[in-house]
Amino acid sequence: MIVTGKGGVGKTTVAVALGLRAAAEGKRTIVCEVSSQENTSRMFDHTAVGFHEVEMEENLWSISIDPDESMREYVLLQLKVRAMRDMLFRSRIFNYLAAATPGLKELVTIGKIWELAQLDRKVKSGRKYDLVIVDAPATGHGVGFLQTPRTFASIARVGPIHSQAQTLDRFITDHENTGTAIVALPEEMPVNESAALERELRDEVGVAVDRVYLNGLYPERFSKPEAERLEGLADGEDGAVRAAARAALSEHRRARSQRAQLARLRRRVEAPVKTLPFLFEPELGPEAARRLSRRLS
Ligand SMILES: Nc1ncnc2c1ncn2[C@@H]1O[C@H](COP(=O)(O)OP(=O)(O)OP(=O)(O)O)[C@@H](O)[C@H]1O
Ligand SMILES: [Mg+2]
Repeated sequence: MIVTGKGGVGKTTVAVALGLRAAAEGKRTIVCEVSSQENTSRMFDHTAVGFHEVEMEENLWSISIDPDESMREYVLLQLKVRAMRDMLFRSRIFNYLAAATPGLKELVTIGKIWELAQLDRKVKSGRKYDLVIVDAPATGHGVGFLQTPRTFASIARVGPIHSQAQTLDRFITDHENTGTAIVALPEEMPVNESAALERELRDEVGVAVDRVYLNGLYPERFSKPEAERLEGLADGEDGAVRAAARAALSEHRRARSQRAQLARLRRRVEAPVKTLPFLFEPELGPEAARRLSRRLS
């Protein structure tokens, strides 16, 4: 399951909440972070996990996929002999080519995700997972990350790179195996961008979009008559009452405009839209993630 969306919309939060939910349902689940920011481990109050499958709680693991480590592991799996791999990694030409090939890091990252999802793990002592959740990189640069396998498959016309890239592309685009979730915020531009992202994912990458999560929705605390009364108080005599009424009104208007964006989003995307509440907390930790996870299914 690939969790995608623009920067800062809540991808990591939703990926962790989905992971908690799946784990609670008894699925052995791993959440993969691909940006090496270690935001996932931070949400669990855990020390950095690095390129290791680390158990966060029952049925739930986490890994931070580093492309250089993925590359080393991949080359070792291909060559089978550690000494040969180390020789290759010391070679200047190899390192030059590896650094100069655009998209290679993305390709080996997706390769690692694929490997994690295999029931017949290539990595020795690798655990079998029922669900692999990918906290994908922000879609600032379009949907290039997910298109890398296809690009490589078309550049390398024959040979192992071609067939392996094709395997990855088929895995991503087969809805029996892979689905995506888009995370959005209840504001005008993010809603537009999410609708565009859904089209791109479907039409250009060829992946299925299963859900759109509208994250950070404010509660609607006041009815219309109550809001009208607040408006009266916002121009009143008492300074403290005036300030409180203005703050309440400002949040009320924000909540209303978010509902309008929710309605727009529902009209503009095909996938079902689920909402997640804004949690008024300075920093979201394990308890907040658990609360959000209970809102998911
Ligand atoms: N529902 C929510 N309520 C309150 N705060 C939230 C909510 N969802 C996310 N946040 C906060 O918003 C910030 C961004 O969330 P998060 O890190 O999950 O986004 P992201 O899409 O993974 O960002 P990046 O693109 O940088 O990886 C974090 O500080 C997070 O705690
Ligand atoms: Mg993130």
